Amino acid sequence: MKHFINLDDLPTEDLNSIIDNAIALKKQHKSGEINQTLKNKTLAMIFDKSSTRTRVSFEAGMTQLGGHALFLSDRDIQLGRGEPIKDSAIVISSMVDIIMMRVSSHKDINTFAENGSVPIINALSDESHPCQLLADMMTYKEHNGSIQGKTVAWIGDGNNMCHTYIQAAKAFGFKLNIATPKGYEPDQTFIDNYADHISLFNDADQACNNADLVVTDVWASMGQEAEQTKRELAFKEFQVDQALMQSANANASFMHCLPAHRGEEVAAEVIDGEQSLVWDEAENRLHAQKSLLLYLLD
Ligand code: CP
Ligand code: NVA
Repeated sequence: MKHFINLDDLPTEDLNSIIDNAIALKKQHKSGEINQTLKNKTLAMIFDKSSTRTRVSFEAGMTQLGGHALFLSDRDIQLGRGEPIKDSAIVISSMVDIIMMRVSSHKDINTFAENGSVPIINALSDESHPCQLLADMMTYKEHNGSIQGKTVAWIGDGNNMCHTYIQAAKAFGFKLNIATPKGYEPDQTFIDNYADHISLFNDADQACNNADLVVTDVWASMGQEAEQTKRELAFKEFQVDQALMQSANANASFMHCLPAHRGEEVAAEVIDGEQSLVWDEAENRLHAQKSLLLYLLD
């Protein structure tokens, strides 16, 4: 049984075939062809944080594949009232075919996987966001071809998204320049384990030099709302604006997992401009995760 808790759970070959199948599923869906491969299958979706894209894409994806998705908010299920993770994992996995979790603590996802009996998908934790990277890599490929050998600039916080970009740099063979304010670097374990694939900067311009793709994310992630003002000050030199995009290659793309804050981590002229791929990136969550579900439930 396979899980998808971090990007490096799967070999590169499998990640690439999930992406290629996602591109095929997108074409199939747009042509109106019906695919009921997951008929009678149930996906449990456990959320203790907000979501627009992740919830809608998994739920619509299961419907499109003939299955069913259950939205389980921690405000409604006993897990949120303190029922042990282990007990919840045993019970929920005895009734459904696959489970997707968006939770504050990454280790809770591991505990679920260790005690449950079905595949577990990490739909964002404090540590990583592997589903988003499937969509990002799919989007890059659709627009620009292979990302292998290219340079990607990550601008902003060394957060969960940044950690998964670090793993993607190794898996997909690109060079990752990471520009953060001092004190907001990615976790040391990621830096140490992927040292050959990344370069760290405290200057956004330098990180964008020769970049084919510029990526950013919110300055304060979910759960860090109390640090918003402090972070706005710390990150003020790290906004992706048109001037910063000029430091990258002329045909560089821009991505952001969304939700975005125009005027903070990204200028409106960039996210709403011609180099931005954010709407395809968001839509591709649907196609990439349908492909992931088919892969894990094979
Ligand atoms: N990018 C992303 O995961 O969006 P949601 O928080 O809306 O699910
Ligand atoms: N880093 C952000 C990503 C949201 C999709 C967060 O964790 O809130």
